[in-house]
Amino acid sequence: MEPNFPSGFIDIHCHLLPGLDDGPATPEAAEQMGGVACTAGAVAVISTPHASHRYRFDCQKTALACAAMRERMAPALRLFSGCELELSLEALPAGLANPRSYTLNGSRYLLLELMPAGLAPNLDRVFAQLLDRGITPVLAHPERSAHLPGCREKLAGWVERGCLAQLTAGSLTGRQGPRLQAAAVSLLRCRLVHFVASDGHDAIRRPPRLLEAYRAMQRNLSPALAELLFISNPRAVLDDQPIRAWPAF
Ligand SMILES: [Fe+2]
Repeated sequence: MEPNFPSGFIDIHCHLLPGLDDGPATPEAAEQMGGVACTAGAVAVISTPHASHRYRFDCQKTALACAAMRERMAPALRLFSGCELELSLEALPAGLANPRSYTLNGSRYLLLELMPAGLAPNLDRVFAQLLDRGITPVLAHPERSAHLPGCREKLAGWVERGCLAQLTAGSLTGRQGPRLQAAAVSLLRCRLVHFVASDGHDAIRRPPRLLEAYRAMQRNLSPALAELLFISNPRAVLDDQPIRAWPAF
């Protein structure tokens, strides 16, 4: 094992359960994904099927699928249940009606996906409503929306008010192209990032691998920050604890 191999990643955003969304189609493909995650240093994955205009989310069904998949996974990889809730007219009302059914491992943390076409005008109100109810919005891959007019300022305001943000590992490494990499780095420089996760969808094209991005951050930014964003803060989500502040570097 290499000396800088981490004590264990917790991947808080991964489409690992079979047959629920655009993740793996079969249990075998999901098992393969679990193997990839494990090999790349993950010790736990929160499975986050989409609740969106395309995919209906069912909390009970997801929990059952998670329990079934847990049986098939290597014992070294723990599997938990969550959701990625789209901020759309189709998906959001059900999420707002009962947010705890949608949060990551039943915690206070709710993973939310911005619509790619633009930022809805009512997002300030939606986030305020959730925060008032003790739910912490975690914005999934804001680097994908960074090109939208005013997005950076809005994100800074939301973070100021208590929202959090999760970068995708493949954006950081450049695997998803130079535009997303530049946006990811820029959000980091502005300290607008609290987690890095895989957003894995399969074993090959969008794999649940965090190791390369973790090492790049250790090398290029700060080992303490890598530890915070890949390990400590995701652990806080799993345990429903407050996240920690950025280290000084
Ligand atoms: Fe996702």
